[in-house]
Amino acid sequence: MEGLRVVQLTVHPENSVLLNMKLQVRSPRHDREVIEIPSKVSKLATPFNGSIASAKGDEYKITNNVIDLLPDELEYSIAQSTNHWKLTASVYEDLWRKRSLSLLTGEEFPIEKEQELLIEWMNPQPQKWYLDVGCSTALYARTLKKHEPKSEQVAVDFSDVMLQEARLKAEAEQVDLYLVKADGRNLPFFAGTFDGLSMGGTLNELTDELKVLYECRRVLKSDGTLFMMHLIKAGSWYGRLFQESAEWGGLQFWSVDESNLLFRRAGFKVEEQFTKGIVCFTKLKPN
Ligand SMILES: C[S@@+](CC[C@H](N)C(=O)[O-])C[C@H]1O[C@@H](n2cnc3c(N)ncnc32)[C@H](O)[C@@H]1O
Repeated sequence: MEGLRVVQLTVHPENSVLLNMKLQVRSPRHDREVIEIPSKVSKLATPFNGSIASAKGDEYKITNNVIDLLPDELEYSIAQSTNHWKLTASVYEDLWRKRSLSLLTGEEFPIEKEQELLIEWMNPQPQKWYLDVGCSTALYARTLKKHEPKSEQVAVDFSDVMLQEARLKAEAEQVDLYLVKADGRNLPFFAGTFDGLSMGGTLNELTDELKVLYECRRVLKSDGTLFMMHLIKAGSWYGRLFQESAEWGGLQFWSVDESNLLFRRAGFKVEEQFTKGIVCFTKLKPN
């Protein structure tokens, strides 16, 4: 054995996905079962259709590169249902999202400014993993991938049409992403999979926000970052009136203090935060 050195490598569970450099998902039906996703599924220039299965034999479809890990039908609030309409998905980013922050803050707030903040706080790195939760057209995942093409980006939503639209936009921009259809209340990933998570406007739409935040905390590494953009309670009477009618449709709004209490309960601490009008940006770290 002379000349042969045996190196013992201890892999911390938090690093296993990273060393492997393949996306490993947790089977939705058998939560100890790993399913490895071939990297070609993220190459959006080449349509991928097929299926993946865990060792237990449960199988999941991949249609046009979208990995369907949501085998059961869910119930949606009115606000959530609109995200399942093809029309909403096709106009969402260009008609609404690009203008939304200027309209909601009441001042000029171009999308580029939001993207700069996302990049600054997330600071995406090569070979690190990032998850866009409730991604719609995956604006955040696409932004991070364009900034750091060697980072690995996963985008999750439970709306098929939004994911298909995300696929079209990413393909047009020549950006590779893993697109996963799944429920934020039960993320199909193992603990400590991601170096960074982002959530843009999704918190207000959730029906079980604490459960989703717990899931975010679980899949985030202990030194990871959660970038949060959400809407807070309006200060003006007409703003509140508008929000109260939106609450009928299933949206929720909190004050900054209430939001921070929610983040703390889910195991996060606020590292940076600022508000503009009813828009609140928060950089969260695991507690
Ligand atoms: C306001 S849009 C967010 C858009 C996107 N993050 C952005 O910055 O443009 C909310 C998205 O979250 C998705 N969503 C809501 N609840 C979800 C849940 N429990 N699991 C997965 N996706 C969810 C909706 O389908 C919708 O596409």
